[in-house]
Amino acid sequence: MNKHVILTGDRPTGKLHIGHYIGSLRQRVALQETGDYDTYIMIADQQALTDNARDPEKIKNSLIEVALDYLAVGLDPEKSTIFVQSAIPALAELNLYYLNLVTVSRLERNPTVKAEIQQKNFERSIPVGFFTYPVSQTADITAFKADTVPVGDDQEPMIEQAREIVRSFNTIYGKEVLVEPQGVFPAKGSGRLPGLDGNAKMSKSLNNAIYLSDDADTLKKKVMSMYTDPDHVHVEDPGRVEGNTVFTYLDVFAKDQQHVADLKEQYQAGGLGDVKLKRYLSDVLEEELAPIRSRRLEYAKDIPAIYDILQKGSEKANEVAAQTLKEVRAAIGVNYFE
Ligand code: TRP
Repeated sequence: MNKHVILTGDRPTGKLHIGHYIGSLRQRVALQETGDYDTYIMIADQQALTDNARDPEKIKNSLIEVALDYLAVGLDPEKSTIFVQSAIPALAELNLYYLNLVTVSRLERNPTVKAEIQQKNFERSIPVGFFTYPVSQTADITAFKADTVPVGDDQEPMIEQAREIVRSFNTIYGKEVLVEPQGVFPAKGSGRLPGLDGNAKMSKSLNNAIYLSDDADTLKKKVMSMYTDPDHVHVEDPGRVEGNTVFTYLDVFAKDQQHVADLKEQYQAGGLGDVKLKRYLSDVLEEELAPIRSRRLEYAKDIPAIYDILQKGSEKANEVAAQTLKEVRAAIGVNYFE
């Protein structure tokens, strides 16, 4: 039996934070370690350019940061193929064929793209490449015949779009060339980590993130600044646990959940101060992040070696994607000269 194939990735628009770690990186490493998958991890620099065309320097710098984050969390180039989107020309050509299988109105209904257009204040000035990135993402997935795509909940519409394109392609061109992918989403409750300020989303633009690369001091300071219960003014006041970001993080990260339950009880009764609670969270996070941070520092000592890993991964990915493109061209019938 053929192995299952995983394809997933990230836009290099900045360093990755602990929201990425909880939402997807952790799961990718676990899937990698099962040995049941051919795993492809793509740094989506072309997709990042769809809304950053005027800031290529940012993408270039972030490419290395993201690669370091990957290696630091335990993605292993011996087990997973880590590669760069722009190094795989077949992806652009697949995208071109798929664009004809999707309507403008179908793309307009994509809720994630819709939300992003609002967030980025594009209004009517939406770059065409940005508008069609769900199609390009279908090229990314299908080029590797990936059947498994581990992503955050916000990527669900992209998987649905990919499945539709695959079905159209296979119906129209009469061949079982493309594989319909399945999304793998984070378990309920662990999907999205709120920002330090209690905002539902941790993100660079909101300036409320803890990065995998933050040093111990920065981590501590960020935890100390976290949003708790604004009405919990004195230590002896009863405090609220729901919507209290410190507890949300403890739910996700603390190994000793019995202790967390005790702390919640104490906090609600009154008598547990925010500073003490935050010190505990800071220790919990430090334990989880220290090994990631030190691996990251180690890898960062030799940046040419990182480019080397990406180049080797891209060479391997190129072979696979070129083969799929060949089959796609044959199915459509544009292989006149073969
Ligand atoms: N859209 C993803 C993100 O913003 C990145 C990505 C590009 C991706 N192509 C993909 C994810 C293909 C999964 C599959 O992080």
